[in-house]
Amino acid sequence: MSETRIIQATDDDMKEAIREATSLLRAGEIVALPTETVYGLAADAFNADAVTKVFAAKERPSFDPLIVHVASRGDLKRVAVVPDEIAEDVNRLTEAFWPGPLTLILPKHPDVPDLVTSGLPTVAVRQSAHPVFRAINKELGQPIAAPSANRFGRISPTSASAVMKELEGRVPLIVDGGACTEGLESTIISIEPREGKKPVLRLHRAGPVTKEQLQAFGKVEKLKEKPGDAPHAPGQLPSHYAPHTPLILLSDPSDFRPEPGKRYGLMSYRGEDDGRYVTMHSWECVEALSPGSGKLAEAAIRLFYIMRSLDEAGLDAIVAEPVSETGLGVAIMDRLRRASVRE
Ligand code: TXA
Ligand code: MG
Repeated sequence: MSETRIIQATDDDMKEAIREATSLLRAGEIVALPTETVYGLAADAFNADAVTKVFAAKERPSFDPLIVHVASRGDLKRVAVVPDEIAEDVNRLTEAFWPGPLTLILPKHPDVPDLVTSGLPTVAVRQSAHPVFRAINKELGQPIAAPSANRFGRISPTSASAVMKELEGRVPLIVDGGACTEGLESTIISIEPREGKKPVLRLHRAGPVTKEQLQAFGKVEKLKEKPGDAPHAPGQLPSHYAPHTPLILLSDPSDFRPEPGKRYGLMSYRGEDDGRYVTMHSWECVEALSPGSGKLAEAAIRLFYIMRSLDEAGLDAIVAEPVSETGLGVAIMDRLRRASVRE
């Protein structure tokens, strides 16, 4: 493949974008599409050849399964077999959070190619809330397999131009649906039934749907991974979402030991000096996740965008200030920690 086109999906030309993307997907091609979380690299989930192209374009190892997106709650049964013991819980959760950034891990339907789930007996499913994605999903009439539209291990794209930087020449079409409104990948859970009690909701990946929001539906517990286990969510490999520039997550400003002559940039939370970070060093540049106001929702939306722009600033290292680990702060800190791990 050589040329990658970007097509706008604004009000005026939405129909054309939907038509073009759908016909490529129908022909077994891959297309980058906007979702409310991050941009996805989409393929018809029932077409194993198309799904192979997703893995190739991303250089994604075949052991890392994809998320399948359904056009409606009713379509869930086309990709998953929901056990009776959790049917009510699945209903409640999908009613509350779909369409939206909650992914459920459920037993897989035999029609889903093994390639999509990397041979696992389970499938990860969500319904996207993005109007362009939803329209394409519906028009195609098939579930869509779509991982984030970045090369493996890199920063997830939250705009069409970020997808271009990641996948130019590897995908024929990027549908530009504007900046993502959540900015972080979906929350991933599995459901473990308990006799006479609400289920355990096992958190595989923290995301826009917070622990606090999930608590009404069950007991939220972290996924315990024993050393040596195959990762349940390989996106949860220690090193992920990583810029090329080393990222230092600094939990205490006094731990900073700058090396002489090196250029450091600061990823600040508010851009103001409430935590001593802004004035502690003569930074090459300072970028704020939520300038002035300090809102976690804004920080989540801007995180990958700021990480990418600092990565392009020619620094020796990016220094990141921590955010408070409540609500959306849990997902933000998860991404910062993984971005700070070097392979
Ligand atoms: O918001 C999102 O979830 C975005 C948009 C495009 O929908 N997608 C996304 O996909 O983040 P990806 O491939 O970057 O991350 C999917 C994660 C991976 O960590 C993968 O290992 C995990 O989901 N996953 C997929 N199927 C799984 C399964 N059956 N069991 C456990 N984890 C699974
Ligand atoms: Mg990803």
